[in-house]
Amino acid sequence: MSDNQKHGLQGKVALVTGAARGQGRAHAIALAAAGADIIASDICAPASDSITYPAATPDELAETVRGVEAHGRKVLAREVDVRDDAGLRALVADGVEQFGRLDVVVANAGVLGWGRLWELTDEQWDTVIDVNLTGTWRTIRATVPAMIEAGNGGSIVIVSSSAGLKATPGNGHYAASKYGLVALTNTLALEAGKHGIRVNSIHPYSVDTPMIEPKVMAEIFKEHPDYLHAFPPMPLHPSNFMTPEQVADVVVWLAGDGSGVLSGVQIPVDKGALKY
Ligand SMILES: NC(=O)c1ccc[n+]([C@@H]2O[C@H](COP(=O)([O-])OP(=O)(O)OC[C@H]3O[C@@H](n4cnc5c(N)ncnc54)[C@H](O)[C@@H]3O)[C@@H](O)[C@H]2O)c1
Repeated sequence: MSDNQKHGLQGKVALVTGAARGQGRAHAIALAAAGADIIASDICAPASDSITYPAATPDELAETVRGVEAHGRKVLAREVDVRDDAGLRALVADGVEQFGRLDVVVANAGVLGWGRLWELTDEQWDTVIDVNLTGTWRTIRATVPAMIEAGNGGSIVIVSSSAGLKATPGNGHYAASKYGLVALTNTLALEAGKHGIRVNSIHPYSVDTPMIEPKVMAEIFKEHPDYLHAFPPMPLHPSNFMTPEQVADVVVWLAGDGSGVLSGVQIPVDKGALKY
C-alpha cells in the first residue's frame, strides 16, 4: 500500500454493506487501515432459502469490528438487510450523527444463485435481483443525500462482478443484476458529479470467499460441466484465487484521491480473465 493510500482517508467516514465476511470485511478493514471510520452492515442471516452456501453470522460481523478497531478507528456495525429501506436510512442517520460525515460508500452486499434462465424459480430470481440490484439502489438512495449534505464530495464503489461485463451460463439472474449495476454506476456518476461525488464499479472474478466455496462449486460444475467451461483461467497466476485483501487494495485506491479523476468507470479485478 502506498503512502497516499495509507494516509489518504484520514478523517473520512466509509460505509460498507455486506461487511461481515469475505470482501466486505476486507474492504472495511483496509479502509480503516487507510484512516477512515467505518459504518459496517450485513444481514448476518440467510437472504433466502434459495441461496445454497452458508450465510454470514453476527459473530463474523463482530470479527470485522475487531479488525477495524485494531487499526484504531471507530466503527458502527449493525445487522441491516439491504432490502430494508428504513433500516438503511436509520443506519446512515446514526452513522452521520456519530461520525459527523459520510465520504465513501462501498455497495458490496450480494448473493449468488445457480440455474438456467428457463429453470429459475420466482424466489431465486427475486432474491438475486432484490439483493444485488435493488439493494444497491436502496443503498445509494439512503447514502447519497447525506454525502451531498456534508458537501465534501466523495467516492462510491459499486461491487459488480466479471458477470456484469461478460455473461456466463448458469447464473443469468446474477448477471442481469450485475449488468444492472453498471447502469446504476454510470447514471449516478452523471447525476452526482456536480457534487464532487465519483462513482465507479469493480468487477471481481474468482475471489476466495464463502460465496464460491470450493465444495459447493464442485457439485454445481459436476452437474453442469458446460458452466465450468465458461470460466477461463486467470492469465496472471492462473491457479490462485484472488484474496479479498487484493480486491480491497483496489477499493481503497478508488475511495481515495489517488483515483480522483475517475468516475463512471468499470474496473475488472480479474487478473486478466476477461481478456479471454
Ligand atoms: N467471490 C467472488 O468470486 C465474487 C466475484 C465477483 C463478484 N463478487 C461480489 O462481491 C460481493 C461480496 O461477495 P463475497 O465474495 O465477499 O461473498 P460473501 O458471501 O462472503 O459476502 C457477501 C456478504 O453480503 C452479505 N449479504 C448478503 N445478502 C445481504 C443482504 N440482503 N443485506 C445485507 N448483506 C447481505 C452476506 O451476509 C455476506 O456477508 C458480492 O456483491 C458478490 O456478488 C464476488
